[in-house]
Amino acid sequence: MCGIYGITAVPNTNIVPWGMAGIRRLEYRGYDSAGFALQNSAELTIIRSVGDINALRDAVSGHTLVSSVGIWHTRWATHGAPSERNTHPHTGCDTRFAVVHNGTIENHDALRRVLTAAGHRFTSETDTEVVAHLLEMEYRGNLAEAMRAAIHQIEGTFALVAITADEPGVIVASRRSSPLAIGILPDARLIASDAAAMAIHTREVVHLEDYDIATLSPTSHMIVDAGAVTRMRPSQAIELEAESAEFGGFPHRMLFEINEQPAALSNSLRGRIIAREGHVRFGGLAAVEKQLSAIEDLTVVGCGTAYHAALIGAMYIEAYAGLSATAVLASEYEYRRTSSRRNSAMLAISQSGETMDTLLAIKGGKDRGILTLGIVNRVGSAIARLTDAGIYNHIGPETSVASTKAFVSQVTLLALLAIHLGRQRDLIRTDAERMLEAVLRLPDKITTALAQSDHVRAVAEQFGWMQSCLFIGRGYQYPVALEGALKLKEVSYAHAEGYSAGEMKHGPLALVDDRFPTIAIAVRDSRRKKMVANIQEIKARRGPVIAIANPDDSEIASLADATITVPEDDEFLMPVLTAIPLQLFAYWMGVSRGINVDKPRNLAKSVTTE
Ligand code: M6R
Repeated sequence: MCGIYGITAVPNTNIVPWGMAGIRRLEYRGYDSAGFALQNSAELTIIRSVGDINALRDAVSGHTLVSSVGIWHTRWATHGAPSERNTHPHTGCDTRFAVVHNGTIENHDALRRVLTAAGHRFTSETDTEVVAHLLEMEYRGNLAEAMRAAIHQIEGTFALVAITADEPGVIVASRRSSPLAIGILPDARLIASDAAAMAIHTREVVHLEDYDIATLSPTSHMIVDAGAVTRMRPSQAIELEAESAEFGGFPHRMLFEINEQPAALSNSLRGRIIAREGHVRFGGLAAVEKQLSAIEDLTVVGCGTAYHAALIGAMYIEAYAGLSATAVLASEYEYRRTSSRRNSAMLAISQSGETMDTLLAIKGGKDRGILTLGIVNRVGSAIARLTDAGIYNHIGPETSVASTKAFVSQVTLLALLAIHLGRQRDLIRTDAERMLEAVLRLPDKITTALAQSDHVRAVAEQFGWMQSCLFIGRGYQYPVALEGALKLKEVSYAHAEGYSAGEMKHGPLALVDDRFPTIAIAVRDSRRKKMVANIQEIKARRGPVIAIANPDDSEIASLADATITVPEDDEFLMPVLTAIPLQLFAYWMGVSRGINVDKPRNLAKSVTTE
């Protein structure tokens, strides 16, 4: 969701191919239009197009574009439809200033009225354009000063990067809540909304803090903080996860990432389990172990799939650590009065580490003075840096919009965290040993679950007619039902709802007829009997049922219209295994409907605005 990439290099370096390659590295975030601005004359050159980077490349084919300074942007439409005039970079009344922006300017309407009254003419529907006009209005020969004056008038979140025709070689940037990092090379400075996008050129980056104003020139950069004090922000080395080979021979990233799960999970677990001692080791939590042992309650936050993992994690922590644990949607956290006692803590779950709602929830937790922890995949991401301590997933980049391997890793790491917190309290060693042995067997069991892929495909084709369906489960399988429904919606555009099976008689049963399928997760756990009763009540109303069950469960198989099996395991690990066929079901349903499963419409991989 929106990406920024900028370069200023020593004169006679042509950065245009460099910038085009850089912005491609931000494609994974999702976008609907792209553009760039180059500085090389009294006016800037602005090129913008709707569609993907290939459309942008086609828009410039036939032109000779050469420059040593430029800023690029991929836009995910929020204010105004995807159109050329709404695409960034935006300019003021003429093309002396160009700005790109990630985030949301909440008071843009009011600013637009003031600027219009002062004679400024607007050409787009975006909130960003006000910034270009503010720069134009505030400019007195120093872009950094104009940026300072502009950001003081803006409410909302932003990562802003600007250039002007009047200051050759200079890029100015500022941020609030939206990440920005400077990349350092001997004869160039880069700026990007995702440090990893610069990694092919440099591993040395400086992360900007809120309200910093950074002035970049080819061989130096200067950062002035909110209090107008010049800061030497330390540079950091980008830790890069090894890029997985693209698609690994699979037709889509989503299928590749689903099939990668046994290996990805092994990477998550590596070095963290000492089963024979009933012990879990998280290096990233070492500094806060004492605080962890004193925690009395935990709020687990996340969005989408990460929230579903949080729901399961809260159950684990209640069950095995005996703590009070509540899962809260990150976007709802500010409306909640969850505990902020001295021994309260928050745990944020995020694959990307950039989700704005989750970042804001963590900031809310910090304002309440509680310990903040994270389970994050993206090394060095905004959430990883903001939390007091945390656990990395170490599953490599997840690039398909639909989250799959992150969920499996998040749930398993939450189980390990619950065991770890439990061992600090009352969980007895032999129980922990048994549970950890089971965790170590999970990657192989996932491999067995994946072997059902062709059968799942056949079931998806059998039910290809469906427009709407329910997913039901109980206990740990209730969040999996929510996750199955989310996956199906995202990649097949079928309407789907996840429900606790216990809720059926309280309303959803009214939907059931012979054209309304239910996917029932009915594995051999302590809730199986009640799930059988739920399936029976659906069948009594002629509702088609797809059961997710364990092998050789003839009772379920005889009731259901189709059965997909997953290996049996300890009840607490079953949500990891039942998630696999639901991911495959969504994938095959989406493929059979001709949908671009890796980039479903209207969605972005990283949701970096509220
Ligand atoms: O990067 P995050 O884990 O913070 O992302 C959270 C959600 O945006 C994400 O899980 C989203 O729901 C996925 N598209 C689900 O497949």
